[in-house]
Amino acid sequence: MTEATLPFQRTGFDPVAAIGELRAERPIVRLDVPIGPATWLVTRYDDVRAVLGDTERFSNDFSNVTELADVGISVEMNPGGLGFTDPPDHTRLRRLLTPEFTMRRLKRLVPRIEAIVAECLDDLERRGPGADLVETFAVPIPALVVCELLGVKYADRVDFLRQAEDRFDVSGDILNSIGAIGQSLDYLEDLVARERRDPGDGLLGALLREHPEIDDRELAGIADGVLTGGHDTSTSMLALGSLHLLMNPADRDAMVGDDVRAGALVEELLRYMTVVQVAFPRFVREDLTVGGQSLSKGDMVICSLSSANRDEHIGADLGQVVAGRATSSSHMAFGYGIHRCVGAELARMELRIAYPALLRRFPGLRMAVPFEDLRFRELSIVYGVERLPVEW
Ligand code: HEM
Repeated sequence: MTEATLPFQRTGFDPVAAIGELRAERPIVRLDVPIGPATWLVTRYDDVRAVLGDTERFSNDFSNVTELADVGISVEMNPGGLGFTDPPDHTRLRRLLTPEFTMRRLKRLVPRIEAIVAECLDDLERRGPGADLVETFAVPIPALVVCELLGVKYADRVDFLRQAEDRFDVSGDILNSIGAIGQSLDYLEDLVARERRDPGDGLLGALLREHPEIDDRELAGIADGVLTGGHDTSTSMLALGSLHLLMNPADRDAMVGDDVRAGALVEELLRYMTVVQVAFPRFVREDLTVGGQSLSKGDMVICSLSSANRDEHIGADLGQVVAGRATSSSHMAFGYGIHRCVGAELARMELRIAYPALLRRFPGLRMAVPFEDLRFRELSIVYGVERLPVEW
């Protein structure tokens, strides 16, 4: 492992110790990446905020970076989803999506999410008295919620879910990941074309009714962004958060206590786990200085969100879960700036419904293997645990 892989590694729940050393001594460091543009890693909270908040000087659109074209990553591979787009395109796409993510619209999903969670818990109960919580709880809930949100019809769901699995089968290498993205778009474009013929009442149907001018490829890009954003991320949060709750009886009690305490704990778990380890890559638009470091036009910047959320400059003891602490409310688990997660409220809703429902249904739930036997993802953009065997 080299310094270049540090942002994609963890030790249990924690960023690797070497990331903390970088944060203290070399907070903006050039990574040794053999191909592509010069790549910098940013680890301090303030510097990460400065980069993510500055769309004038940093771009998300990799298609115009010539060094990437040199290594075979081209304009056609850009899915055109929000995360890889700059204003004014980003502004236009985000405005299309935002109305579907308002609290009012999301509230309609609450009974559906509750039903999805209850069905998954029924299934878990049938398999008992032991099962893998990743397979039965953490994977299906977000996948079915994304289906519900997009309006994927029941007949299409098996295919859709299989496609989603393939979509996330990428290594932690950022260049490989960028290259893999284009592949799922053909499937989604097909789904969009079918939805255009028979629009349902989900997000795709609503967008097609209100904006018939959007073409299939662009809408597939939006769907891809929602799928990418909403699936693996929430799966990891459900799995890692449940693991923390099983290991910490006081937090477990708080989670089944009143909604306010549960909500505060969910927020702190989001900060503590920071499952999306790095933000979308940013590209430098002009020679500039950030945190005292000079960067050149065309350089790529990787912001470590998991490091920023543990930065000693913003709070003490950030390696502990303390519900209600001040930094819980300014964490960067959902990113920052104009690309901040559009699904943040939906993710919170899922977690606030799913964790308490799990713990209430199975009051005797416990881990079936010691913590040391669990396998965590070794190199990943979205951190997670492979399996979580439990019994009751
Ligand atoms: C616990 C769950 C989640 C976490 C931790 C998470 C985290 C993030 C992060 C870190 C970003 C990138 C910010 C940046 O680079 O500046 C992001 C963007 C995004 N997320 Fe999420 N996310 C979650 C759930 C969701 C859900 C449920 C959806 C939708 C159903 C979603 C959709 C998106 C989209 C579309 C973007 C791109 C926004 C833009 O570029 O304007 N995410 N998310």
